[in-house]
Amino acid sequence: MGQLDGKTALVTGATTGIGLATARRFAAEGAHVFITGRRQEVLDAAVAEIGANATGVRSDVSDLADLDRLYAAVAAQGRGIDVLFANAGGGEFATLEQVTEQHFDSTFDTNVRGTLFTVQKALPLLNDGASVILTGSTAATTGTEAFGVYAASKAAIRSFARTWANELKGRAIRVNTLVPGPIDTPGITGLAPDTEQAGHLRNSLASQVPLGRMGRPDEAASAALFLASDQSSFVTGAELFVDGGLNQV
Ligand SMILES: NC(=O)c1ccc[n+]([C@@H]2O[C@H](COP(=O)([O-])OP(=O)(O)OC[C@H]3O[C@@H](n4cnc5c(N)ncnc54)[C@H](OP(=O)(O)O)[C@@H]3O)[C@@H](O)[C@H]2O)c1
Repeated sequence: MGQLDGKTALVTGATTGIGLATARRFAAEGAHVFITGRRQEVLDAAVAEIGANATGVRSDVSDLADLDRLYAAVAAQGRGIDVLFANAGGGEFATLEQVTEQHFDSTFDTNVRGTLFTVQKALPLLNDGASVILTGSTAATTGTEAFGVYAASKAAIRSFARTWANELKGRAIRVNTLVPGPIDTPGITGLAPDTEQAGHLRNSLASQVPLGRMGRPDEAASAALFLASDQSSFVTGAELFVDGGLNQV
């Protein structure tokens, strides 16, 4: 018996990286999983990989009309949402001196505005007792150079989780934040301009982690499954770090 048998889950940004690994795990645990991303061909490939328990809806979390189309598609299956993993997000390097209006807007549009309206527009569909998982980052508190806008966007996520856990407790909806440290995904390697620099970045990140390596997407997925399932039934408003000890020791 799967930990999510008969449940409906939505994972935004689930075509690669942490989101894809988590959608795969949720489906393997018995959930029907709606997945999203902006690139149709990558979305189609992810649906094909996960199998019959996945439905793909191409959508951009920073576009409110896209979110309306997404939730119309989810509503059409008529069972509400038991697990919402607001995972879509990303960032780019820019020092304070280099930050542009476009850099700020695109980062906050996806990570902050996108997360807020992903959860707000899900409210009518969330079943009582649902689990909402937001996606933070260890970068929110480490002061990493040239990552200030991204870090600030993820600090906002931590704040949202506290408020929403309080606002939704009357419906027994739990809201927690998954906080990845460096996880080896296309999102991380894409921060570097080429494969050689990506290798240097990987080595540099791994050297900062007490466990001496980057995490794997499936390790973040295991933590997401814990927050999604009844195993975490008395956990809300919390941050669960999957960071190899980076922010802990
Ligand atoms: N990997 C890490 O080390 C790490 C550490 C801390 C936090 N995180 C967070 O974990 C989450 C997942 O990161 P990842 O490393 O797995 O990244 P990733 O491999 O780049 O995956 C990001 C996913 O989100 C989608 N996406 C990006 N922008 C979107 C938008 N505006 N609307 C809808 N979908 C969008 C991407 O597909 P499309 O491009 O096709 O839209 C892709 O499916 C992010 O919130 C990230 O900030 C990651």
